[in-house]
Amino acid sequence: MNPRIPYHKPWVGEPEARALTQALADGNLVGNGKLSKEFQKRLASYLGVRHALFTPSCTAAFSLGMMGLGLKPGDEVVLPSFSFVSIANAVIALGATPVFADIEPVTFNLDPAAVEAVLTPRTRFLVPVHYAGMACDLDRLSALAAKRGLVLVEDAAQALGATWKGRHLGTLARAGVYSFHATKHFTTGEGGLLVTDDDALAAKVEIMHEKGTNRAAFLRGEVDKYTWVSEGASFVQSDLLAALGMAQLERLEENLRLRRALAARFSKELAGVKGLRLPVAPAGCEPNWHIYACLVAPERRDAFVKAVKDQGVDVTTHFEPLHSSPYGREKLGLKAGALPVTERVAASMVRLPLYPQLTGEEAGRIVSTVQSAARAL
Ligand SMILES: Cc1ncc(COP(=O)(O)O)c(C=O)c1O
Repeated sequence: MNPRIPYHKPWVGEPEARALTQALADGNLVGNGKLSKEFQKRLASYLGVRHALFTPSCTAAFSLGMMGLGLKPGDEVVLPSFSFVSIANAVIALGATPVFADIEPVTFNLDPAAVEAVLTPRTRFLVPVHYAGMACDLDRLSALAAKRGLVLVEDAAQALGATWKGRHLGTLARAGVYSFHATKHFTTGEGGLLVTDDDALAAKVEIMHEKGTNRAAFLRGEVDKYTWVSEGASFVQSDLLAALGMAQLERLEENLRLRRALAARFSKELAGVKGLRLPVAPAGCEPNWHIYACLVAPERRDAFVKAVKDQGVDVTTHFEPLHSSPYGREKLGLKAGALPVTERVAASMVRLPLYPQLTGEEAGRIVSTVQSAARAL
């Protein structure tokens, strides 16, 4: 029997071990110290943005950004229900209300027409998720935001390295957030990033990032001692993890190249497999292939997943829609049936293993296992 092919394996090794050992030897442990500053500078340069802040998670980056943008009780924030729970919870924690809009069946991203249908006079923010590193329809969403006076914040948790019309996803709105969680293709174990080109927002969030103090200004020699100057929280991340992140950044281009090659192979060799819908990149988007998301008819999906897993290949489903979850129903009064595309996509999704360490033989085994499971359905 061949060894199992897990769904995901973080791509870490010697370079990361060396970076961590060096940071420890140099005593670089503090939050937002010189390694974090360097990491932020390199990420800002890679992404082509003016400001980047390293945080404990994408969720923390989002909370920090929304605090800086002045999200307040009574505000409504439109986001997809086909997403990770923590962003909706961050909205709720600030006293505002998440409002879920339906997605498009091809990109699995917010459908601009569905967004327009849920806007109210209280809507202040739109938070599109670039699912799987595939671009949302930013032309239409940006136009809608401009027309209705809404602020766009990109959830690029899964999108580091993906581009749209040559620009990085996550850098195309007022602010963007990324996740460096261990399940992501670029990882610091736990971690995230907030980016913006807005200098006024950056000045605010710099203080909020440092627990509401002007420590950053103090470290630049602009004030004699630092003190409590605004609301904020402990949004900084240890320099140890910045060291890890810089080692990951060194392999990001290779990581993306290998992912793109694997995705191209899957798309070529699985084309035409009956009952299996393959992912399609929208026009103008170069995905990072964080996820290779296929669809199988809902009534056959679970049997298909079981058949592939029984052959030692760990394919997996994904998000349960938030609106029909226990908390969505109880807190927001929502019901199953409200967002038909979201529900159908969630019930149909199958994600294939895709990561740089996959050997050619393993990629071939994924293809043949998926082909035979699809034939058996
Ligand atoms: C779309 C999306 N947004 C936000 C998050 C939250 O990321 P983190 O765990 O870094 O807070 C995730 C994590 O999976 C995600 O997939």
